Amino acid sequence: MTQVNNKAEKEKVFIFDTTLRDGEQSPGASMNMQEKFRLAQQLIKLQVDVIEAGFPIASVGDFDCVKNIADHIKGAQIAGLARANVKDIDTAWEALKKGENPRIHTFLATSDIHLKYKLKMNRDQVLDLATSSVRHAAKYTSNVEFSAEDATRSDLDFVCRVFEAVIDAGATTLNFPDTTGYALPDEFAGQIRYVMENVRNIDKAILSVHCHNDLGLAVANSLAAINAGARQVECTINGIGERAGNTAMEEFVMALRTRADQVNVRTDIVTEHILASSRMVSSITGMVVQPNKAIVGSNAFAHESGIHQDGVLKERTTYEIMNPCDIGLNKGNLVLGKHSGRHALKDRLKSLGYDSLTDDELNRVFLRFKELADVKKEMFDEDLEAILLDEVVSIPETYQLLSLGAMSGNQTMPTAAVKLLVDGKEVKDAVIGVGPIDSAFRTIAKLTGTTSKLLYFAVSSITGGTDAQGEVLVRVEGDGKIVVGQGVDPDIITAAAKAYLKALNRLVYLKQKK
Ligand code: KIV
Ligand code: ZN
Repeated sequence: MTQVNNKAEKEKVFIFDTTLRDGEQSPGASMNMQEKFRLAQQLIKLQVDVIEAGFPIASVGDFDCVKNIADHIKGAQIAGLARANVKDIDTAWEALKKGENPRIHTFLATSDIHLKYKLKMNRDQVLDLATSSVRHAAKYTSNVEFSAEDATRSDLDFVCRVFEAVIDAGATTLNFPDTTGYALPDEFAGQIRYVMENVRNIDKAILSVHCHNDLGLAVANSLAAINAGARQVECTINGIGERAGNTAMEEFVMALRTRADQVNVRTDIVTEHILASSRMVSSITGMVVQPNKAIVGSNAFAHESGIHQDGVLKERTTYEIMNPCDIGLNKGNLVLGKHSGRHALKDRLKSLGYDSLTDDELNRVFLRFKELADVKKEMFDEDLEAILLDEVVSIPETYQLLSLGAMSGNQTMPTAAVKLLVDGKEVKDAVIGVGPIDSAFRTIAKLTGTTSKLLYFAVSSITGGTDAQGEVLVRVEGDGKIVVGQGVDPDIITAAAKAYLKALNRLVYLKQKK
């Protein structure tokens, strides 16, 4: 491979983010309209090239989310997914049409196994349908992507025939997905090379890849594809997505950046926003990042052994191949203290990229900041971001926590006394449980008269030390809906109660909306 160090000489790889579409297909990771919009704004900060905002035909909710993003988000192409049929494509266009540079992304399987069992079509029918669908989409826009679903298990000559035909019909991006996460890197690179060499008109389109992670190879396969000539990579933040997920954007992008000596391509991603984006996705979806996850896991830049710590203190690069600041991790970055004023907070939030808070949102964040600064000696960027995620969500608070007191220990019956405002009315009770959190949740369920099911509970500390804020994430099921809630507080029982109440408020909101 040629070694090119000058950024200007490097060819660009387009980043197509599908966190809002394939990412949302992760079991239990559904996001509401407001959350999707917030994430889309974050993707703009990252400077992704394409945001796949959803699958408009899938539901009215999906349609509205795509439309909302296409109508209001500027600075990236907005894509909507459509199966290869007129109705899907018309619906996708209806949602996308007001966007700055909307892309219709239509797909059809090409593997014999999908043709035989799923589509019940022969290859000629698939070729015709792919071509006519792309031709139909191209009547609306010149920005059309075609995906040959299950390409890695398809006959390559057939994929090449389909690609040639859809380029002639107006497709400008051709996607070669490893839908089942089956390919190995060398094999995948060979397939991409074959397509580059055997599709007559490939110079009229960009070749894209979309890798799933069933064998843990999605990032490796995407990198191999880039070496073989692909110039768009479809990926998600934290690698979330169907089954084992998709190519993790942060891993792919940081591999290109860190090994710039080995690759002659670049992306436009502003890597300093990676960590905040990862946290936002995890907080919205309730999918916690494993501590040893590359780039964004809490241990990714932690050095445990004495030898490593000593080495890093003497010279960071002894054990760190990336600078944590490059992903937005400002280790030990003390930001503000309890004497800081609203102005300083506003400036700090602005430098973290939160520059569009309303006065009311800023006031709420400021109050929470002051409360926390009273009990916590040091305030880090992460603390502020946690408060923001906790506060700047405008789901109506049908249930509000007024106070909570919990009793626990190995010689006592765990009990929680909770006082709530339920629809503006003060109610209180105390219930015994297996532990303090169980008691708090039982009391809340009793006071709110709800019968939801707790599917998932995770607690983590946001910054180190025994005075760190605790963050609790819950996933709750009620009325056939699954929602997540997050709560942040120096006291983890309170954080848990806040998370639970946030989830219950979301359930009420969804029920009323319905
Ligand atoms: O995995 C897949 O094949 C997809 C397509 C719709 C691109 O998600
Ligand atoms: Zn996929």
